[in-house]
Amino acid sequence: MADTAQNHPTSFYEAVGGEETFSTIVHRFYLQVREDDLIGPMYPHDDWEGSEARLKWFLAQYWGGPQTFSENRGHPRLRMRHHPFAIGVAERDRWLEMMAAAIDTVDEETLPAPYRAALWEHMVRVADMLINRFD
Ligand code: HEM
Repeated sequence: MADTAQNHPTSFYEAVGGEETFSTIVHRFYLQVREDDLIGPMYPHDDWEGSEARLKWFLAQYWGGPQTFSENRGHPRLRMRHHPFAIGVAERDRWLEMMAAAIDTVDEETLPAPYRAALWEHMVRVADMLINRFD
């Protein structure tokens, strides 16, 4: 694909390979979540595709890609949407551990170090913000 966006990326989203890269990360993340004893049970087990789409489009939108998330789901309101799930330090750490492993599968050329670091910092920041059980 030698289109202008590829040659002169105008957003983080485009710079790291667009939808394909976000799909890869989110898919590899949910492959682990499905099997996870701690946070796996929180997710609707009949809608893994839906879960993948929601997280993928949320991230894509945040990083300057299409506004698909908001078109389908409205304002992200992530704290509110996570309120039904008991998220403490252990749940946050597990989420981040699986996300780190998923991001690790993306090669350096697709996701160079500074982009990788920025992506990771955002994951950590949001995960910290979503802790809603302190005990
Ligand atoms: C801290 C640990 C976390 C846990 C235990 C957790 C768990 C969940 C669960 C059970 C759902 C509902 C199922 C679904 O809609 O797919 C969900 C939805 C979602 N989560 Fe998380 N999550 C965590 C962190 C994060 C982080 C760090 C992000 C973003 C970087 C995120 C983004 C989302 C999004 C975008 C949705 C869909 C919201 C919607 O449209 O309804 N989550 N999460």
